[in-house]
Amino acid sequence: MDELVALCKRRGFIFQSNEIYGGLQGLYDYGPLGVELKNNLKQSWWSSMVYERDDIEGIDTSILTHPEVLKNSGHEDTFTDPLIDCKSCKSRWRADEVNSNKCPKCNSTDLTEPRPFNLMFKTKLGPLDDNGNFAYLRPETAQNIFTNFKNIVDTTSRELPFGIAQIGKAFRNEITPRNFIFRVREFEQMEMEFFVRPGDDEKWYSKWVNLRMDWWRKQGLSNNLSSIDVPKCDLAHYSKATTDIMYKFPHGVEELEGIANRKDFDLGSHTKNQSDFDIQSNVSNNISSNSKLAMMCRDSKKWIVPFVIEPSAGLDRGVLAVLTESYTDEKIDGDSSRIVLKLPKHLSPIKAAIIPLKKNNPDIVNKAKEIKSMLQKLGLGRIILENTGNIGKSYRKHDEVGTPICITIDFDTLEKNTVTIRDRDSMNQEIINVKDLNDRFADLIL
Ligand code: GAP
Repeated sequence: MDELVALCKRRGFIFQSNEIYGGLQGLYDYGPLGVELKNNLKQSWWSSMVYERDDIEGIDTSILTHPEVLKNSGHEDTFTDPLIDCKSCKSRWRADEVNSNKCPKCNSTDLTEPRPFNLMFKTKLGPLDDNGNFAYLRPETAQNIFTNFKNIVDTTSRELPFGIAQIGKAFRNEITPRNFIFRVREFEQMEMEFFVRPGDDEKWYSKWVNLRMDWWRKQGLSNNLSSIDVPKCDLAHYSKATTDIMYKFPHGVEELEGIANRKDFDLGSHTKNQSDFDIQSNVSNNISSNSKLAMMCRDSKKWIVPFVIEPSAGLDRGVLAVLTESYTDEKIDGDSSRIVLKLPKHLSPIKAAIIPLKKNNPDIVNKAKEIKSMLQKLGLGRIILENTGNIGKSYRKHDEVGTPICITIDFDTLEKNTVTIRDRDSMNQEIINVKDLNDRFADLIL
């Protein structure tokens, strides 16, 4: 982990947030390369969910959330971690971090009993400092998918089964944020709520577990990926079954994504007129909702509250997993070695570096700019001009940030219209004609 954190800082992937003022625990900023990597992972998820399927719509909802949403979802009462205070050194711990009734920091046994600590952040709305006038920062993106259910059905005329996907920020006041971007207080989720007929839920649940495992494999994670069925006693209050997709992070095997069969808990909790429906989950009485979150069954002509299968992935954990998997310290020629990020090419922050052989030769530099601009127009991601004048150093840098190819512009480019392409993984070099570059480029980086 230390090597990965150092590389992320050195090369501009991820920085501690607010560092110039000492930093804030559990918050990180994505730098120039981190934002590209994160966007590429998001884009891959969005394509697989929304573009490549015909049964899922995308949305983007507000972060500030009406307290009634999180009251009726159960978050106000149950979204808690048990917290233990050390009376001696005043440190705070999640109960599962305290072993043998001793403070992990000072070893004191003078500890409080565990008490529930709600993880949601609150903020006031409007200018009045009035307790009744507040909103929550959403602790998951899922809830505003449910509250938009009727809007989506009305505007898209969807029939069951169909899904709604969203990527966005979520906030949790974690008691002990740690392990770099693994457990943080502000993070992004990629969540999809797939609505199905009751009775079809188990079939779709298995299907989504397989689809999600396949997607993570396509992000390059095959070696260290596994899944576990969450034991009944550990299931969340809304869940009939949950599978956790696990990844072997540098600090241990931990959850990357959860796929849950949430039955009719969510739409049943947020709908008006609950008693009109045969809601199977144990939901609290809702007296505030003004919307009927149900669909007419075509065959029976009865109104039903759909069941929900939810694949819910952490984007930051995805970035950490992808970086972990691709970080390679590779021996080359005898004693020397190189650090190379063997990222799947669709995730690489930079698709190609264009390197002029001589940084002060205007003809070579202008030709490099021309080629950069030609490739950039293909719209396949970020291409950069790397004008350091030191080819070896440029190769090393681009190995470390996972750039799939480097293209060197030299005197032959001016005379014979050829460039040298160097492959990140094999380090093989190939000379090709510039007129073939556009066509070859897509093959080389996709
Ligand atoms: N809507 C269901 C839900 O939010 P969750 O298991 O609490 O379920 C889903 O969260 C995913 O969000 C997790 O699998 C994890 O990848 C990510 N996640 C949760 N808490 C996180 C945190 N504090 N920091 C980073 N990622 C987190």
